[in-house]
Amino acid sequence: MYWKVQVLEKYVIKGGTALHGEVEISGAKNAAVAIIPAALMVDGVCCIENIPQISDTDMLLTILRDLGAKVRFLNKSTVEIDCTKVRYQDAPYELMRKIRASYYLIGAMLGRFGSAKTTMPGGCNFGVRPIDQHIKGMTALGADVSVKNGFVYADARDGKLHGARIYLDKVSVGATMNIILAAALAQGRTIIENAAREPHIVDLANFLNSMGADVRGAGTDTVKINGVDKLHGGSYAIIPDQIEAGTYMVAAAATGGEVLIKNVIPRHLECISAKLRETGTIVQEYEDSVLVKGASTLRRVNIKTLPYPGFPTDMQPPMGALLCLANGTSVITEGVYDNRFKYINELRKMGAEVQVDGRVAVIEGGRRLTGAPVQACDLRAGAAMVIAGMCAVGTTEVEDVHYIERGYENFVGKLRELGADIEIVNFSDDSDPSEKIVMIS
Ligand code: EPU
Repeated sequence: MYWKVQVLEKYVIKGGTALHGEVEISGAKNAAVAIIPAALMVDGVCCIENIPQISDTDMLLTILRDLGAKVRFLNKSTVEIDCTKVRYQDAPYELMRKIRASYYLIGAMLGRFGSAKTTMPGGCNFGVRPIDQHIKGMTALGADVSVKNGFVYADARDGKLHGARIYLDKVSVGATMNIILAAALAQGRTIIENAAREPHIVDLANFLNSMGADVRGAGTDTVKINGVDKLHGGSYAIIPDQIEAGTYMVAAAATGGEVLIKNVIPRHLECISAKLRETGTIVQEYEDSVLVKGASTLRRVNIKTLPYPGFPTDMQPPMGALLCLANGTSVITEGVYDNRFKYINELRKMGAEVQVDGRVAVIEGGRRLTGAPVQACDLRAGAAMVIAGMCAVGTTEVEDVHYIERGYENFVGKLRELGADIEIVNFSDDSDPSEKIVMIS
């Protein structure tokens, strides 16, 4: 572990260019961030293909290395992980605090060792993001779980977890996946009711099953897990990222361009394609790609975000940016998080007319956006600002782009390939230099 001075980066975007060409979608972030911790439970070597090169996966692989795993990249997106020699120890807290997905180490470590100590998860701030349903699940499986001074302590009461029937009070992606992880090596059968149904839940189940687990019903609201004694090594390829694909779809539509988005599962994009078609955008589906052709005038639409197969909350900010350009008044209702409209303030700096009341945003569209210095408030909000910048008149500078790099592989490079005028610029600011020192390992 050592320290270095963090170089601050911003994106500088000159607006007004429609995107044209082809873009290849990377592996799904929210599948990868559960599958990497799942490798801890495998007694053997697992080879994982289609890992997105983003800072969240980098951090998780670093955490596994710190725990004693052998991690080797075979090419830029294929990693071999050998956790056979990993023994129980505390995980590196500084790294865990930075990412939301560190909560999957609770399920994975409890499953493998019967004990886990992690920090409370970090990640994007959309208001209160409790983990009570994760804790409820682990407790039902026979763990004593407590949260003290920012740490989560979990210990299987008799050294081993036992299957149980668990009803989630709230549809939670993280809780569903965490309970699947812990239950995969528990004794007996676990049933999760009111489970989340996102594509990455199916992907985690497929990964575990290919390593010898017995998880059934993933993708429905009832998941049944028959615990097995051990998981063996194997190979697995992560599905393409639904939200990365959706972001390029919206970027193509907003800039009035024409983009073929490759390496996707069109079925996972249906909720996004349907809304884009309502705006007048043409979306053509092929076997593993979608072609998006922007309309000369965008129409207003209303959106309500919901758990899958509803419209994804992670697509709400990019669509918010697009709707500022659409003719008429659009209403967005955020159905998942308490506070996911912070980016609207940034859009207002660019001339957007939006009223926010709690979980509802009313967008008076058809305004011309103008370039401005703005912040990426979080990962998807950052993507929204980049889309707005590409559609605006003049130059937009987006700061805090480390959020964007948590979840989009080579965002700037891929957009430049599509013709966007965007570059990464290093800069320094006047804040306390000690704030720019970060720990890396
Ligand atoms: N919730 C609870 N209790 C819990 C868990 C969740 O009340 O124990 C609430 C949350 O506060 C939220 C709702 O339930 O209001 C749904 O949260 P969920 O657990 O589904 O979200 P998450 O697991 O924290 C994952 C993704 C998010 C994505 C959501 C919803 C990861 C690491 N994160 O978060 O991804 O928004 O599911 O699909 O998988 C992103 O990629 O930008 C991102 C934020």
